[in-house]
Amino acid sequence: MLDAMDSPSPPRIIELPKITDQRGNLSYLNSAEHIPFELQRAYFVYDVPAGSVRGGHAHKSLHQLILAISGSFDVVVNDGSGEQTFSLNRPWRGLYVGPMIWRALENFSSGAVCLVLASRPYEEEDYIRDFGTYSVLRGNP
Ligand code: TYD
Repeated sequence: MLDAMDSPSPPRIIELPKITDQRGNLSYLNSAEHIPFELQRAYFVYDVPAGSVRGGHAHKSLHQLILAISGSFDVVVNDGSGEQTFSLNRPWRGLYVGPMIWRALENFSSGAVCLVLASRPYEEEDYIRDFGTYSVLRGNP
């Protein structure tokens, strides 16, 4: 059977509901309805200095939804065979990134807040922090 090591799910944009009225907009997500994993953790990245790059790793089994809750940034993903850049600049438009996808977050606007919803608690052993190791695991020498 193919698993994420051999055949990672491609990253994809997930659009959340948006309720608009004169008082402002509201978006929400129900784990079972809107994201392809069960939510166990959330963390957020903020006050990112201009030019900083976050991420720079893959996960063996973690699923994530990455949201630009405020401002904007780019998520550069690599599945081992090519790179793709997703610009996130709306709080209701998130990027799903599954296991065995290399990602880097860059080009943060001033005041950007990145919210990450994750399928597992923080586990350092789930990280692959070296691109060479990642490439070998993906079958690219
Ligand atoms: P890291 O995952 O390297 O950040 P990023 O991918 O955004 O660049 O994490 C940075 C530090 O924060 C590292 O020491 C681990 C710690 N950390 C936690 O303790 N819990 C968490 O949920 C996360 C995401 C990180």
